[in-house]
Amino acid sequence: LGQRLHHYSSVGSTQLHAHEFAQQNAEHGTVVLADEQTRGRGRLNRSWHSRKGEGVWMSMLLRPEIEPHRAPQMTLLAATVLAEVLKTHCGMKPQIKWPNDILSNGKKLAGILTELQAEHDQIQYIVLGTGINVNHEAEHFPEEIQSIATSVRNETGQSFELTPFIQALLQTFEKRYEEYMEHGFQRIKLRWEAFAYRIGERVVVKTAKREWRALLLGIEPDGALKVCDEDGKEEILYSAEIKWGK
Ligand code: BTN
Repeated sequence: LGQRLHHYSSVGSTQLHAHEFAQQNAEHGTVVLADEQTRGRGRLNRSWHSRKGEGVWMSMLLRPEIEPHRAPQMTLLAATVLAEVLKTHCGMKPQIKWPNDILSNGKKLAGILTELQAEHDQIQYIVLGTGINVNHEAEHFPEEIQSIATSVRNETGQSFELTPFIQALLQTFEKRYEEYMEHGFQRIKLRWEAFAYRIGERVVVKTAKREWRALLLGIEPDGALKVCDEDGKEEILYSAEIKWGK
């Protein structure tokens, strides 16, 4: 992984470059990194603030030989890798909000954007984008996200060099990816659960259709989220947003 690393000083979005490489048949493990993104993208069409040198803006091309319905497990895998590295490399206590937000003290520290290209029920490739706020000072975030976003520096009082941090990420990712390919999702699930945010607590869940209060029960063997509503009815969700607690 990362044998083919393309490092740019400024791009629109590393995701777009990774898609282009994928379409030119670039190999599994190709990594696109940028010091700055001018059009960083988040989930749900949001923009992702990615200033020069302040964080890790990276997209990885994966060609896993798994069925498309397992692709979301890649997101959970990536989230555990981020949480693990933030813990071991930066001494933090990160939490993962299902499926893929990395939080510290309830504020968002990093996010993952997984884009799947599948044909005839086969994965062509996955572009796994990772954005980690590393060296931002709190006031550098746009005003509208100041109360919900944070950075490693903000949380630890320390700045981190990005290169060793990225190396640790790639190494850990490679290890966990092999573990996943060899043993399946079960072990990754256990790792994910060790960082899980608000499992066993009351939250508000939002899907495209509705928003309701629920108890977060945990994740299923396939990585889906299990919740229970106020009438005790259990549901398994493949796509949803956990909004807040209480
Ligand atoms: C989220 O909404 O939480 C996901 C954010 C993903 C941001 C990363 S930064 C590197 C890559 N390039 C992008 O444009 N987005 C992802």
